[in-house]
Amino acid sequence: MTGTKKSIHGEWSSRFAFILAATGSAVGLGNIWKFPYITGENGGGAFVIVYLLCVAVIGIPIMIAETMMGRRARQCPINALETLTEEAGAHKNWHYLGWLGVIAGFLILSYYSVIAGWALAYVVKAFTGSFSGESAAQISGLFSDLQASPGQQIFWHTVFMVATMSVVARGVQGGLEKAVRLLMPSLFVLLILLVAYAMTTGAYMQGLEFLFKPDFSKMTGDGVLTAMGHAFFTLSLGMGAIMVYGSYLPKGISIAKTSILIAGADTLVALLAGVAIFPIVFANGLEASAGPGLIFQTLPIAFGNMTGGWLFGVLFFVLLVFAAISSAISLIEPAVAWVVENYDVDRKQASIYMGVGTWALGLGTVFSESFFEKIDYLTANLMLPLGGLGIALFAGRVMLQKHTQAELALDNEIEYTAWKFLVSYVTPVAVFLVFLHVLGVFG
Ligand code: TRP
Repeated sequence: MTGTKKSIHGEWSSRFAFILAATGSAVGLGNIWKFPYITGENGGGAFVIVYLLCVAVIGIPIMIAETMMGRRARQCPINALETLTEEAGAHKNWHYLGWLGVIAGFLILSYYSVIAGWALAYVVKAFTGSFSGESAAQISGLFSDLQASPGQQIFWHTVFMVATMSVVARGVQGGLEKAVRLLMPSLFVLLILLVAYAMTTGAYMQGLEFLFKPDFSKMTGDGVLTAMGHAFFTLSLGMGAIMVYGSYLPKGISIAKTSILIAGADTLVALLAGVAIFPIVFANGLEASAGPGLIFQTLPIAFGNMTGGWLFGVLFFVLLVFAAISSAISLIEPAVAWVVENYDVDRKQASIYMGVGTWALGLGTVFSESFFEKIDYLTANLMLPLGGLGIALFAGRVMLQKHTQAELALDNEIEYTAWKFLVSYVTPVAVFLVFLHVLGVFG
């Protein structure tokens, strides 16, 4: 049966390769760009706690479920859901779950690429010394200039999209695995350097307090939804990205252990980014709630003030772009794998079609901030949690126990029972409660 099949797209060369790829998918703009600014918009500490809770209770069990479903079906998410639905003898409507994910990935990538383009533009700014000796106001000015220039944004958006699609066109092992191996650890080192700078700003404690001292009176229903949505977003869950990566996972590798490792690394990077950024915000009298421009208005201040800052600035934004590429490829991989599996088209052509489509949609974000906000809300806050809810129910209640048990191959019965309980009951109820909370059911 399916469990012994291999993916037609190839396989990861090792357990480590899978960890790198999945971590590469998880760690991206979500951690360094999005997490700080949404934390700033939602009041800090309490938001961070809800996010951490969601990662633990909802994120990790779903990551296990997605990887497991992918490895069992060995196909893109759309076809995987068809195969698994048939295997379990379930209702055909489950097929829509695969489609929901592919569409969400497509929508997310459209704006993701524009933001990654901003990071590319900042590589050049860092290189030409634009940050050195500038005041916080001048640094903010640089960002507004970029916002006011659709031409520049489109240029960098195009560069990023071409880079991403050329990696996707090369397939599972070519290029990607090798790149992530070196880049991820380097990004980590640079973040530590930024945290060290943050300690010298004089507002370090204030930054830490903002991040870690909860004030629940600042939490709104929408804040809770955003925190949950972000747990999905940052772990790349709810749309089949991790499922498609799971479909390239060789047999005999523990899915549960790797999932915990990946979620842990992802969370660490986000928290480090927050610890680096908020002291700079407070030391310079900036607004924590500045929105999507937050990292572009804060980190350059650090680079402008430290010796050799231009070099660190270049390195940082280059690494951020690579982190973004290794995430972007997982956003589009389900769609590309679907085209390859279903039509007489090779990877390269499939990548071009998908890339052009996403690129065009990205123009919406270039020209309109509200377009970006709507797509972001629709995908991160609604589509991903809904997709995740479906995946949890499917893995926990629709798939046959003997199949999930065989695929997960956990060391003991207790671990399996715990996972099954989480995906069948805890995760769905938690997602449902958050949706109700937003609708104002709890007053
Ligand atoms: N997790 C990535 C980030 O934090 C973004 C991402 C990649 C993603 N693949 C995904 C988000 C799939 C949702 C679903 O930057």
